[in-house]
Amino acid sequence: MFKLLKMALISLSLSSLSGPLKINEGVIELPNEHQVPKMITMNFFNDCETQMAFRYNTDYRTDTVLQVVKASEKDFIDKNILEFEGKTEKSLVENDGFIHSVVAKDLEQDTKYLYRLGDKELDCWSEIGSFTTENNQDFTSFIHLSDPQVMEELHSRTYSELLKEITSTKNLDFMCVTGDLVNNSWQDHIPQLNQWEWVLTDQAEYLQNIPMMAVAGNHEASAYDFSSRFNFPIDDLTQDLTSGVYYSYDYHNIHFTCLNTNDTKNSTSLTYATGLSEKQMTWIKQDLEKSKDAQWKVVMMHKGLFDAGSHSSNKEGEDYDIAIMRAQLAPLFSEYKVDLVLQGHDHLYSRSYPITGTFKDNEFVAQTSEEKIAEITFDNHIYHAYQNPSGPIYVNTGSASGSKYYNVVDYDPEAIPLEKAYGSSNRMVTSYYVNDSTMFANVYEVINGKLSLYDTFAIKKAQSNTDSNSNNFLVIALVTIGVVGILVAIVLIILKRRRHA
Ligand SMILES: [Fe+2]
Repeated sequence: MFKLLKMALISLSLSSLSGPLKINEGVIELPNEHQVPKMITMNFFNDCETQMAFRYNTDYRTDTVLQVVKASEKDFIDKNILEFEGKTEKSLVENDGFIHSVVAKDLEQDTKYLYRLGDKELDCWSEIGSFTTENNQDFTSFIHLSDPQVMEELHSRTYSELLKEITSTKNLDFMCVTGDLVNNSWQDHIPQLNQWEWVLTDQAEYLQNIPMMAVAGNHEASAYDFSSRFNFPIDDLTQDLTSGVYYSYDYHNIHFTCLNTNDTKNSTSLTYATGLSEKQMTWIKQDLEKSKDAQWKVVMMHKGLFDAGSHSSNKEGEDYDIAIMRAQLAPLFSEYKVDLVLQGHDHLYSRSYPITGTFKDNEFVAQTSEEKIAEITFDNHIYHAYQNPSGPIYVNTGSASGSKYYNVVDYDPEAIPLEKAYGSSNRMVTSYYVNDSTMFANVYEVINGKLSLYDTFAIKKAQSNTDSNSNNFLVIALVTIGVVGILVAIVLIILKRRRHA
């Protein structure tokens, strides 16, 4: 009886703890916790169709192995396992053990895979996660969340609740995070590893099945704190990774330009503050130039250029590095027809009008034009869509954990033209659904653990360049056929009259 009970307990444990648990002659061997992968992050690499990148930590040095099987295989005992070896390095963060980086390559497009990470020789593995390579659907679905800024265990739970709710109600391709996943390193310049455990390891149930694309916030701005956690596709290998990382990626017809807004110097005096380094500015210009034909362009940045919080108010006392960045970036975003800028830093919801502008007295002067609005019904909601807006819309999405909420301040509405500003005291998250012609956004608060729709907006534009080119071609062809037809008819009439004459 005792034996039966023991076997039942073993099989129960095995079903709930697939990876590291082992049985040796009927005795459960607990994994060596110092060798088990933790703080696992999964993100897109250079090609979303065929690749997926991972980073994780172990306390002790172990090999870095990624095993991948098609989800149809269901487990890792089949011979169809794809295996990828990665790199193990001593972490640059103090007391952080070893970081492991690995990329799965040459995968099949639009295919669901299972994966596990660990050391083959030690037979020590992570829990099994899953991902799908870039799908063949004609739309993209992602969420934007920001500033969980987890500083105590309670925030880990409130963040979990939001992740659980949004991942169970939406079918998402990936998530975008605009910084400040953790809190403390900004104050004492020492990364707080327990906070990373709360915001990554403790969220594994959700994060192990969805790629996370993130930018660094000012609370993770030192000592390689942020860049140690993610294996992002970096093309400027000469950039300084101490305070964050800048990179870009494409999913379907959307180009994402991801900035490191810690690459500035803030000061209580405008004289001593600086904007983004020349190096990053050069990269941003190149990136926007390279992607100018993308159907949709989205920028992700932590410190926002236009929002309703104290950091970006354009009043005395705002972050002066932001004032300089506004002058550096807003004209560029407008010139390159960026559609949407995802921001963080001020923990509130705010959404700008489409913004263009000019320079005056060395400052960016925002302008809003008369915009064409269309009413579109989609998925049982009515959206007021900007039609071919004149400039980007800048959006903050509040705090994802509720660790800290900001009030709307007395911002300058001339310089910061906002359509919505809301200092919610609920956690918030925004979901995006993007097809070739329209981007739909649903903004949610989490109320009593459930998503409650607060706002919607949309951007509608001409269809992709290829489509509009082919449309143009069709119009030209029809006009030509029409003109030729009329000429032939005229000639026939003339010939007929001559014959009669
Ligand atoms: Fe921040």
